[in-house]
Amino acid sequence: MIHPPESTSRHAFPFEARNQDELVALLREQGMTFRDFECVTDGDYAPEDAAWNYMDIPHLNYVHGQVDGCMTFAADAVTASVFFQRVPFFRLPLTVLIYQTSRNSITYYTSFFLFLVVIRTEWNSLGPARARVITRYAVGWTNRLVGLAFPLIRWLLRRNYRILMSEDLPMRNQRGALRKKGYSFRMSGEIPSFIESRKIMRQNVVTPEQNVVAPTDIGHWPLRRIAFDELIEGRPLLVGDPNHLGLTVQRRRDSVLVFPRLCPHEGADLDTAASRCKISGEGPEAGTTIQCPWHGRKFRPILAIELPARPSRSQTPWHDFETDKSGLTITCRDSRDVTLRQADWSRPAEPIQPDAEDIPITTAPAL
Ligand code: FES
Ligand SMILES: [Fe+2]
Repeated sequence: MIHPPESTSRHAFPFEARNQDELVALLREQGMTFRDFECVTDGDYAPEDAAWNYMDIPHLNYVHGQVDGCMTFAADAVTASVFFQRVPFFRLPLTVLIYQTSRNSITYYTSFFLFLVVIRTEWNSLGPARARVITRYAVGWTNRLVGLAFPLIRWLLRRNYRILMSEDLPMRNQRGALRKKGYSFRMSGEIPSFIESRKIMRQNVVTPEQNVVAPTDIGHWPLRRIAFDELIEGRPLLVGDPNHLGLTVQRRRDSVLVFPRLCPHEGADLDTAASRCKISGEGPEAGTTIQCPWHGRKFRPILAIELPARPSRSQTPWHDFETDKSGLTITCRDSRDVTLRQADWSRPAEPIQPDAEDIPITTAPAL
């Protein structure tokens, strides 16, 4: 029976969809044989973090090195792509259709040589910030001899699953760890949307109600003095914790640059990005950016000091910077203003243009 997926307030679901069981039953009636197996992953993150990960289109090109292809269609609850599977001597084109079949599941399918693969991924809560994700593969064929290759297909799919998980789990765990510290993540509806995932200039990270100053920071933070002499080019200095207050300070040629440690879009860790800071042109921050490893959003430095430094002061909603001839003093302010929970702590390299429907974005004051 075809049925419309469970409707939600945002998704009108202007289509009907068969879930994996219904699709497999239908195709069995058409003479296909199916065998299935499951891959299960438990983790310390919310079910929404797994859901978000599966709806997240732009990360495919940045995070999954082996994914080669392009998206051809996207709406809130459905997307289609052409991927190329590498097999010896060939890049095999696969058309893949992915659609939401309930609040906590998606179904997707593709044909692969003489096989049809119908997959269902479902995420459920195992407690506060703990989730179980079950991916069930149903592999179908029309000829008994073809079915003899099922163990090989199962091995390939399991291997593929392990590779994808090894790349996705760090970000899910990162979001789970941030949730434990009081962070939350905005979604524009009850469930994530494929099309919304493409708006990478949004700030979807909502900071905790109070500043996060971890006990490990006591003694170094909220006040930190950095002598310019102690900065070594190519070795970014990490200040504070990897949260919205944490900063990376680095020396680049005759400049000292300060970047955030947490991406305000969806919470990726920017520490590895800092060491790949690109610099070009003249002046303290000309063409200097770091790029988020998750979706590729680029950031200019929050602060750029040209050496030899002249005395100056500047600030963000959470920091005061004081520069003198020999160094930089950073003070982390105790700001408990709820409106700051929405404040962007970065300086994006491209202008943010919120449209009428967009989540309001507050940018950090110009320095
Ligand atoms: S998490 Fe999306 S650009 Fe950084
Ligand atoms: Fe992924």
